[in-house]
Amino acid sequence: QSGMFTYDPGFTSTASCESGLTYIDGDQGVLLHRGYPIGQLAEQSSFMEVAYLLLNHELPSKDELDTFIYTISRHTMLHEQLAQFYRGFRRDAHPMAVMCGVVGALSAFYHDSTDIADPHQRMVASHRLIAKMPTIAAMAHKYSIGQPFLYPDNSLSYTGNFLRMTFGVPAEPYVVNPVVEKALDRIFILHADHEQNASTSTVRLAGSSGANPFACIAAGIACLWGPAHGGANEAALNMLREIGTPEKIPEYIARAKDKNDPFRLMGFGHRVYKNYDPRATVMQQTVREVFESLNVSDPVFETALRLEEIALKDDYFVEKKLFPNVDFYSGVILSAIGFPTTMFTALFALARTVGWVAQWNEMISDPEQKIGRPRQLYTGPTQRDYVPVDRR
Ligand code: SDX
Repeated sequence: QSGMFTYDPGFTSTASCESGLTYIDGDQGVLLHRGYPIGQLAEQSSFMEVAYLLLNHELPSKDELDTFIYTISRHTMLHEQLAQFYRGFRRDAHPMAVMCGVVGALSAFYHDSTDIADPHQRMVASHRLIAKMPTIAAMAHKYSIGQPFLYPDNSLSYTGNFLRMTFGVPAEPYVVNPVVEKALDRIFILHADHEQNASTSTVRLAGSSGANPFACIAAGIACLWGPAHGGANEAALNMLREIGTPEKIPEYIARAKDKNDPFRLMGFGHRVYKNYDPRATVMQQTVREVFESLNVSDPVFETALRLEEIALKDDYFVEKKLFPNVDFYSGVILSAIGFPTTMFTALFALARTVGWVAQWNEMISDPEQKIGRPRQLYTGPTQRDYVPVDRR
């Protein structure tokens, strides 16, 4: 059942759980959310629809979706005390450090949605987290640039509200660009959930002890921040900018293949996908659409396309089945929209909160659920007697 870990007598534990949210076939490059292919969801649905699907097993009717969106909108504001919390950070603090702190601090505020035995309270905690992540992320950005926080405007869509809180200022009206809104909403869909990745497993493991749901999500944010995981989108764009021009690509390909060089191609490879990450396909397509529609270009995109083309013809990458992943192109488009690279992983966390809370709910609602307890293969010394310090 969800959350159950299976052990075999040899103590080679296989941490496993059962989950009905997301199915990945890494060899075929297939990603389904409750049976729906990610490509269809990205093209035809909205992030709020996908959030409803992951939380409630089925796509919503129009009324169900309207009610869900209204419910989420009731929680978009942040307690004023928490706005003060930001002032404890340095202005140059990484947004992920701020997100970790502020989301963890939510656990000090809401006592009416932490009785995790109560399904209603669990759903209220989930709605609060989904609703507040855009406000928290936007405030982290505003704080870092010394601009005033903007309160949510619930007359806007979930994603439009986030764009306004991030890029709007009190002195000017902010008009949401529909092309950018749709592209960002699609990017949120691509990041919503991804089976038992490192940060989701962190949330499940933390949640399996019955810990406060807000603290569990803060743990997931911490894990996602790593450059091997969600931090790769920021690292990938920094790498593409460092490469600069296509002429320098061979030098970086050589470094990625050199076992004595710790450098890896950021945005390439995956623990599960040994084929093209279907999200990267949609992401690349979205870059083209946004660039065309906004009539913008960025040489970094050309460098990324060229790097992919060269890598996918290189024996090393072909043999090791290293393909672009979701993080390879995302930074190109987030940068074109106007986000600083330090905000890229915060956006990943914003979107992945939907998957984290849905996976947490699935686990906690399972009556058979037990506390997670991964085992180890012991490789230390055999038993021995203590030696007093004056004889060592
Ligand atoms: C995400 O789990 C998820 O689902 C995560 C995620 C999600 O939605 O939650 O999909 C999001 O985290 C995507 C991954 C983002 N990270 C990066 O892009 C960072 C760069 N990629 C790598 O660090 C790496 O590919 C990992 C961390 C993603 C996977 O690392 P593994 O487990 O070592 O990969 P592997 O076992 O398949 O590697 C096989 C070989 C190894 O060499 P050998 O030991 O066989 O000699 O390929 C090498 C690796 O060293 N390799 C790379 C490489 N990735 C793997 N070599 C050069 N460049 C790379 N990017």
